[in-house]
Amino acid sequence: MNTAELAETCAGAVSGGRLGRMLDELAQWGAREDGGVDRQTLTTQDLSARRWIAGLYATRAGYKVAIDAAANIFIRREGNDPALAPVLTGSHLDTQPAGGRLDGAFGVVAGLEVFNALDEAGIRTQRAMEVAAWTNEEGCRFSPGLMGSNAFVDPTQMDGLRSVLDAQGITFGAAVDSACQDFAESARSNGWHGFDAPMKRAIHACIEAHIEQGPELERAALQVGCVNAIQGVRWYEMTFSGRSSHAGTTPLAARDDAMVKAVAAAHAVLGMAALEMQADPSLRITVGRFQALPASINTIAREARFTIDLRHPDDKVLEAMQVRLLQLCAQASHTAVLLCKPPVPFDAALHQLTQEACTRLGLPHMSMLSGAFHDAMPLAAHTPTVMLFAPSRDGLSHNPAEHTPIEDLTACTRALAFCMTRLACPN
Ligand code: GLV
Ligand code: MN
Ligand code: MN
Repeated sequence: MNTAELAETCAGAVSGGRLGRMLDELAQWGAREDGGVDRQTLTTQDLSARRWIAGLYATRAGYKVAIDAAANIFIRREGNDPALAPVLTGSHLDTQPAGGRLDGAFGVVAGLEVFNALDEAGIRTQRAMEVAAWTNEEGCRFSPGLMGSNAFVDPTQMDGLRSVLDAQGITFGAAVDSACQDFAESARSNGWHGFDAPMKRAIHACIEAHIEQGPELERAALQVGCVNAIQGVRWYEMTFSGRSSHAGTTPLAARDDAMVKAVAAAHAVLGMAALEMQADPSLRITVGRFQALPASINTIAREARFTIDLRHPDDKVLEAMQVRLLQLCAQASHTAVLLCKPPVPFDAALHQLTQEACTRLGLPHMSMLSGAFHDAMPLAAHTPTVMLFAPSRDGLSHNPAEHTPIEDLTACTRALAFCMTRLACPN
């Protein structure tokens, strides 16, 4: 068989039944009563999910598992030539606090289903393949997101990241160390086959599968998105200061109310955002978190702050918007840029491969931009990278109701299987 035929055979062996069962099982760790998932990074729920995923493959012939210094885990299917750099796929296991079952989990499970399909079809590849589960993509427990994949690509960031605190005062470094210890204990007691996974190691190519998290594929009645770029994103936190005093006794003239300043600024930001988003449909501006201190019903706030999430495919637009946002928040006592990522174009040849995969497999598809950021964003600075999307029902994600029909998840996984096999086998 030539490589294209091998790739088609692997894609044909992808099983929606197996894929669905793995997703169901994974969703039990952090399951919410409303059907969603709350699995914060490196918590006991996340560690259980990681142990289960790694344990499925860690003692099978031809497989090895590893954890790196950012607690990213890797499941590796050996190739015929161990000297060649692996083909990498995967995504993240952490979720939003009121998250769904697919955001991140689908990309990890899709990669594992490609392994199952290769095994079933008896295909040996020249290059190894690896499925990664990147640490803290969401940025909910430790801010900002993409910590594991950023650290993999630029390990010098690890020192700074280790001191980031969660709401309980636990450092990211301490959480990473416990996860590494947990993994090492499981490996020892279960006889897992391990390998060394230094950060920044050579990767031949990276393909991340993910749900779209927006409405475009469903609107177009298509099964697969061939993603050619991720739009730029900037996160800000605007802090406003005042003086705490008694709500019942302090007259207007004596008040220095942080809430008044923050609400006025947030109102101005949202007003401008509504007008600008109407004028430019590619623009996204969101005020997602609003906090006051001491957050007491009968105390005037001494501090109030809110976050802004700004996104656009053009970095010049982001720069111009930033100037306007800072002007509207001129009363802030402190403004912080929490995240600043320019738009990332994906590798043109890999993008073409995703389209070829869909065409050969007869999967209805289109090229598209990613509105959300993903672990593929930092990876693209390290190795040729691309993404595949499956549609999201009602365009909904970061919501317990997040859903994609299993046929569409299977179609996207077939495209992933085709691409990975092509990349891991000689021509
Ligand atoms: C990732 O979840 C994002 O906010 O784009
Ligand atoms: Mn995600
Ligand atoms: Mn997400």
